[in-house]
Amino acid sequence: MPRTIVVFVTRDGHSRVLAAEIGKRLSAPVYEIGDLVKRKGFVGYMRSGAQAWKKMATPIEDPGVKLEGVKFVVLVQPIWASAICPPIRTWLSIHRGELGGVRLALLASNFGSPPARLRANYDAEFSEVFGPLAAFAVLAQRLGERERSKIISDFAAALERA
Ligand SMILES: Cc1cc2nc3c(=O)[nH]c(=O)nc-3n(C[C@H](O)[C@H](O)[C@H](O)COP(=O)(O)O)c2cc1C
Repeated sequence: MPRTIVVFVTRDGHSRVLAAEIGKRLSAPVYEIGDLVKRKGFVGYMRSGAQAWKKMATPIEDPGVKLEGVKFVVLVQPIWASAICPPIRTWLSIHRGELGGVRLALLASNFGSPPARLRANYDAEFSEVFGPLAAFAVLAQRLGERERSKIISDFAAALERA
């Protein structure tokens, strides 16, 4: 099993691209969490925001990753209401028992709201269980190629140092 894996969820595809980029940079396999909640359109948008705000864990199709020997899991997600995405919360809860000794890192895609609240929300909800993040970064959709590639390089370097 590889030392590092990437696990992502997406609504509109940006996190899929991000997961592929960081996976390539780290030579790590990439797994998609299947999101079983209807999220398209206005109703889906509102539902997603409300579920994130309420810190819900929502139904997923688990990609069934084997975690033996894994040291780092890079979680990739869109930011909804400055929070950990509900399908990611479900995946963490299903695999909590296998994640002892594994360091988590978080990479997120958003429209550009300040990232500090997402990190604070992770710390408040998960750092006691999973420890502090080994690396953290948020990429706004509007970023150009150079900014994007620098953030991804810095994220990968932080992970390699951790
Ligand atoms: C329900 C919902 C809530 C969102 N909340 C935020 C937010 O608080 N801040 C922000 O910058 N972007 C927010 N966004 C925008 C997404 O984070 C952004 O479009 C992201 O790039 C989508 O990633 P995806 O294509 O992987 O789904 C929100 C989007 C949705 C659907």
